[in-house]
Amino acid sequence: MDLCTRYLGLPLRNPLVASASPLSNTADGVRRLADAGVGAVVLFSLFEEQLRQEAARNAALADAGTESFAESLSYFPGTAGADPGPRRYLSLLERAVAAVDIPVIASLNGSTTGGWTGYASALEQAGAAAIELNIYQVPGDGPPPGPVVPGHDVEQRHVEILAAVKAVVRVPVAVKLSPFYSSVGEMALRLDQAGADGLVLFNRFLQPDIDPETLTVTAGFGLSSPAEARLPRTWIALLAGMRPVVRASLGATTGVEDPADVARYLLAGADVVMTASALLRHGPGHARVLLDGLAGWLARKGFASVADARGLLSVPAGTGGATHERAAYVEALQAANRGHGPWSGGPW
Ligand SMILES: Cc1cc2nc3c(=O)[nH]c(=O)nc-3n(C[C@H](O)[C@H](O)[C@H](O)COP(=O)(O)O)c2cc1C
Repeated sequence: MDLCTRYLGLPLRNPLVASASPLSNTADGVRRLADAGVGAVVLFSLFEEQLRQEAARNAALADAGTESFAESLSYFPGTAGADPGPRRYLSLLERAVAAVDIPVIASLNGSTTGGWTGYASALEQAGAAAIELNIYQVPGDGPPPGPVVPGHDVEQRHVEILAAVKAVVRVPVAVKLSPFYSSVGEMALRLDQAGADGLVLFNRFLQPDIDPETLTVTAGFGLSSPAEARLPRTWIALLAGMRPVVRASLGATTGVEDPADVARYLLAGADVVMTASALLRHGPGHARVLLDGLAGWLARKGFASVADARGLLSVPAGTGGATHERAAYVEALQAANRGHGPWSGGPW
């Protein structure tokens, strides 16, 4: 079965991508994912905060008038070396690239514009086949009175981060989007027009929980469930239907547990289907289960290749996304009413 795929202009042996997770934070982990058959690996993210610390430290070293970083470490015993994250990341990237023959995509995590984005060129030099921008910002902070950053400012910042990275690298750049824009379609188009080579839908955010027994806030970052795939899949279908206006590759992430979930995303129009939770839950070898299941499904349905199935259930251009969604919404509500009896809890 022909599973070959193109993503961000890169040829992949298949459309299954291991998305950023702790499984890709060692070269060995990346090798295990490649051995299990994935088409590409996204490394876990390098954080803006780490890069800012490194920039501040380098500035301090320059001020101290030293050329040699290794020597200068001794001048700053309290701070230098406290965050070796960026260099460790570059070293991991180099070793991962050398260890596998599939594309290794580096991931930058940040939320502000600033000099840290220039670090992307170091990732390119270290062998990243592409860069994924994991723009992580829940606009939940801000100057008094609090979380009221204007939506336009948030969106503009995201476009500027992309532009800043595109300005310093030649490798393709993908943006991992949030589902929390007022108009995901418009934002996707803006990023596409600003040069995004790929759009990855959607990022999953840390959502703290409250424990009423211990009266504490707990960090919430559980693994996903397949039901969460519905929102990203709907948007993949809508954006895939906007081709050729949307030129960027479409990467699907969230809720892939079994081969049918991979098939669903491909039918919606995803160029690649990413998975993290399922690989964490079942181990990297689960990639083989997903791929064998995908090949089996394609054969059973009479498709000769992934390309034959891709986008068959995208929202056809000209249908009108709102009409399509609203029609589906009304239909689903009617079905729910038939199944459960009329909703009497209040107006919908
Ligand atoms: C433990 C864990 C760590 C993650 N770390 C990162 C990260 O460093 N960068 C990133 O962009 N996404 C990260 N993710 C998000 C995943 O790459 C993925 O987009 C998300 O979990 C949805 O996919 P899934 O349903 O297959 O898990 C992480 C997810 C998990 C579960």
